[in-house]
Amino acid sequence: MRIDVLTIFPEYFDALKISLIGKASSSGLLEFGIHDLRDFTHDRHKTVDDTPYGGGAGMVMRPEPWGEALDKLAVQDTVVVFPSPAGQLFTQGIASELASSRHILLCCGRYEGIDERVVEHAKSRWTVRVLSLGDYVLNGGEVAALAMIEAVSRLVPGVIGNEQSLIEESHADGLLEYPSFTKPSEWRGLSVPEILLSGDHAAIAAWRKQQQIERTRLIRPDLID
Ligand code: ADE
Repeated sequence: MRIDVLTIFPEYFDALKISLIGKASSSGLLEFGIHDLRDFTHDRHKTVDDTPYGGGAGMVMRPEPWGEALDKLAVQDTVVVFPSPAGQLFTQGIASELASSRHILLCCGRYEGIDERVVEHAKSRWTVRVLSLGDYVLNGGEVAALAMIEAVSRLVPGVIGNEQSLIEESHADGLLEYPSFTKPSEWRGLSVPEILLSGDHAAIAAWRKQQQIERTRLIRPDLID
């Protein structure tokens, strides 16, 4: 899979060199291209923003650099993603869908956002997803893009060593994960649940499922419906 990112802060994406995603990138399983939006400007100051039509606070990103960058980087089967607090909620299901794409292009807006015509124009040429990380506002799309890249990349076969962990973790089956324990069996007066030391695999599996249901009901009842 190839993932390209358009941003005015390419340094954010240095984190992609670390850990499992860094390894997958070195081995060629994932290919990243991080591009500075200012390279698609033509004025001396590399201007990417301007005041909003109709007035209001803040600045809006001008459409021309985005248009040129998308023309250069998007191909026929690209999925163009705009991280935005005004988007559809990014979920494990969407991560899973994106993980089967050949090419994703993440467009990171700043300030009060990108001129809406960029999204409208992109929709006429490519598959477009406007996606929100959650009901809160970040300073720009970069941190959201990093989270999306990590959630998607780890679903690409071969990126995570132990694929069983993908099946067992939170949200994979619509429930929160069961609690985990390791050695020592006693720590600061707290013991590991007896059942986990029993060696009875069927009973352990049943207990874990029960824990998942209880936790989800308590912490995220919205997921049960
Ligand atoms: N950009 C700013 N806030 C965001 C959010 N919550 N999700 C995705 N992109 C964003």
